[in-house]
Amino acid sequence: MSERQLLVSKIRNGIVIDHIPSGKAFLVLKMLKHEPTARVLLALNVSSTKLGTKDLIKIEGSYLTSKEIGLIALVAPSATLNVIENWGVKEKRRISIPDEVDGVFRCPNVLCPTNSKYAPSRTRFKVEAGDVIEKTLLHCTYCNSILYYGAVLDQINSDAFSLEGGGLVSKEKINQVFLDLLLRKGALRLAPSPAEPFILKSGRPSPYFVNMGALTDGESLAKLKWAFSSFVALLLERREIEDFEYVFGPSYKGISLATLTCEGLNELYGMDKRYMYDRKEEKTYGDLSADRVIVGANYFKPGQRILVIDDTITTGATKFETIEKLKLLGEHRVVGVVIAVDRQEKIGDGPDIEEKSAVEHLEHDLGLRVFSIQNVQTIYGLVKDGLSEEMRRLWIDYYSKYGTVKLE
Ligand code: CTP
Ligand code: ZN
Repeated sequence: MSERQLLVSKIRNGIVIDHIPSGKAFLVLKMLKHEPTARVLLALNVSSTKLGTKDLIKIEGSYLTSKEIGLIALVAPSATLNVIENWGVKEKRRISIPDEVDGVFRCPNVLCPTNSKYAPSRTRFKVEAGDVIEKTLLHCTYCNSILYYGAVLDQINSDAFSLEGGGLVSKEKINQVFLDLLLRKGALRLAPSPAEPFILKSGRPSPYFVNMGALTDGESLAKLKWAFSSFVALLLERREIEDFEYVFGPSYKGISLATLTCEGLNELYGMDKRYMYDRKEEKTYGDLSADRVIVGANYFKPGQRILVIDDTITTGATKFETIEKLKLLGEHRVVGVVIAVDRQEKIGDGPDIEEKSAVEHLEHDLGLRVFSIQNVQTIYGLVKDGLSEEMRRLWIDYYSKYGTVKLE
């Protein structure tokens, strides 16, 4: 093993920001606003063939390299970004200084509309690159004030900047925020004792129950928006789903999730998607042709692509209905289905338990790819330490009978 490999161990999944000028790693780290629990490896002043010495940052987890990554270039233009997957370098990216920086730094002019006390406009700077990074100038597009490089560094150092969407996002962070939301808002209910399980529609006595209907307050909606749109952006970034033009939310619960997702994708990730949903009762007046069944269908063009968003999958029957309804649009492609929670259970009613899960059913029979923000295995892993011995038994027994995963 070389000296370099010995210094900083390899990571399994995550990102490596390499070739950072010596002494700049802490600044880059500040800029990233990584989550406090992330595993971060930092190497300072290691030898480099190109730079003499360099700093290096490794962040474990599957991270979204959102457009904010361009901001690293403002601190370390020579840096390279390596996306690590399964121990290997999946992708190398050159980091380059962005042409514009939106909603991050503050304008130095106190009278600028972006500094208005009431309803401030979102800041926007045009970047004028200098021959050296220290000569970079940021021009406010509202008031033409110049934000000098030193002031940019001051804002980063004193945490006086904002990264909408919270900077780097990982699947783990989305998992955590989402689970925290479910628990705090009473959407994930745990049975109080083995004698009081939740009886599901299928008759199964479940140790927990997920009720997304509890998430109706403003804070929950804001978190749902963040979680769904970040999750979708991550799937796109990692090329796990193809790009799409529409988000479809099956009525009723899917409608608000689809609208929140579209809004979040725009606000946090700069993407512009439309949403559609189905009517439960067909409309019999007005514009009958296009949106009789699917609202938003009049914008649809043949061959366009659709992402389906919903709260959960129980038997998969509702998803089959959705897929049937989408046929009304003519030629189209469904790029995937994103759900909030996968219960990871086998399908079947009463005593007839089949081997397949609802998700496998959809994947095999309809060729759809299903992605869940949370699943029971993760939820159980995070709540099990707080469970009594007998409740733990209940979870384990339930899943050995009905589950497609084994719990321990
Ligand atoms: N790396 C890592 N974990 C892995 C694979 C790579 O932490 N599983 C790190 C390496 O330590 C290195 C960076 O990711 O810092 C890029 O890896 P690689 O391309 O193998 O190294 P170099 O060829 O030295 O990169 P470059 O050409 O960019 O200098
Ligand atoms: Zn200004």
